[in-house]
Amino acid sequence: MTEPADARARVAAFAERHLTGQRSRGLYWAPGRVNLIGDHIDYLGGTVLPMTLDRGTAVLALERDAPGLRIHALDEVDAAPFEVADTALAHGDWRDFVSGLLALNHETTWGPGLDLVVSGDLSGGGLSSSASFTLALALALMDADWLPRIEGTALARYAQRVEVERVGTACGLMDQLAIVHGNSEGAVAINCATAAIEAVPLPLGDRELLLIHCGQERRLADGIYNRRREELAAGLAGLGHPLDAIPDIFAEALPSVFTTTSEGRRVRHVVREQGLVHDARAAAAARDWGRFGAAMTASHASLRDDFEVSVPALDALVGAAVATSGCDGARLTGAGLGGWAVALLAATAREEVIAAVARALGETPDTLRWFIARPGGRVRRLDEGAHRDG
Ligand code: GLA
Repeated sequence: MTEPADARARVAAFAERHLTGQRSRGLYWAPGRVNLIGDHIDYLGGTVLPMTLDRGTAVLALERDAPGLRIHALDEVDAAPFEVADTALAHGDWRDFVSGLLALNHETTWGPGLDLVVSGDLSGGGLSSSASFTLALALALMDADWLPRIEGTALARYAQRVEVERVGTACGLMDQLAIVHGNSEGAVAINCATAAIEAVPLPLGDRELLLIHCGQERRLADGIYNRRREELAAGLAGLGHPLDAIPDIFAEALPSVFTTTSEGRRVRHVVREQGLVHDARAAAAARDWGRFGAAMTASHASLRDDFEVSVPALDALVGAAVATSGCDGARLTGAGLGGWAVALLAATAREEVIAAVARALGETPDTLRWFIARPGGRVRRLDEGAHRDG
């Protein structure tokens, strides 16, 4: 069942119904992203290859009669609006992103009364819903004079701090940079050591990128993400290597004592994964999609066997996809441990891939969650000029 993207329509409909007569201060939107290759290397300064999506998080800002900030999170089961009061208080959920955005900047002012209506199309894990949420919210808060204005890479770094310092996930900078610097033509190559960004057009021709959900949700702060980072640090320390860079060696050249321990295998993954990113970039430049797909599938195997962040449902999904003729390759995307996978395939093979994956997951083509990935540009205000300053 293809997933319709309608976050923008949902926030507008809610405001019309429940916040009638309140003047709009702007409609903001941040895309999600699919990482095409290069996972679990951003926090070591690796080069990664994400593409933003044409689905993301919508935030509608409205003037409010009462003072203070109120958030209506339409996708939360507990639908009570969040009245922001004490930004030092930890909630252990999405509200920490809001408090974090306000609390980590010393120049935050308690601005004019504001209602923010929020909804997203990125549920399920792996499409960077949290960075998308944080950045759409940041834009709305900056425009409403609650946050001082920052842009570009500085904004990405600020959003990352919120996640690391307030939410407790020691994430890298890939997602935030992708969402701040994404384009509408294809992917971006991000050097996470220097934050240098290069556009990587994807003239896919008769091929497409298909996103499929494995049926299992995942939460980053569950601890495995941080644990993998610690194991990696231990593996690198064992090699006498600094913790902020990928060793400049071939994965195959690692001493076998390393590759038989789990810390050593974590290191082997990052070395191998970086090589595969370079391979995929060369393949994209040559429009060699067979080679691009092969790099994706090899990356999945490395994330499964050496980094151990796959789950059986993701493996079954990827296995069924790549076994279908017309599919160039597939892999989990993002942190792993459930969520979405991405496949590169001939458009004519779509139906067959969907049927094969559905069978492998014990679903039907009607119950399987999937959509075609299209590049979504970057975080922005959608109604620029329409209602600005009344
Ligand atoms: C999450 C993190 C990113 C990155 C990926 C794995 O999305 O937020 O920084 O580490 O996992 O590549």
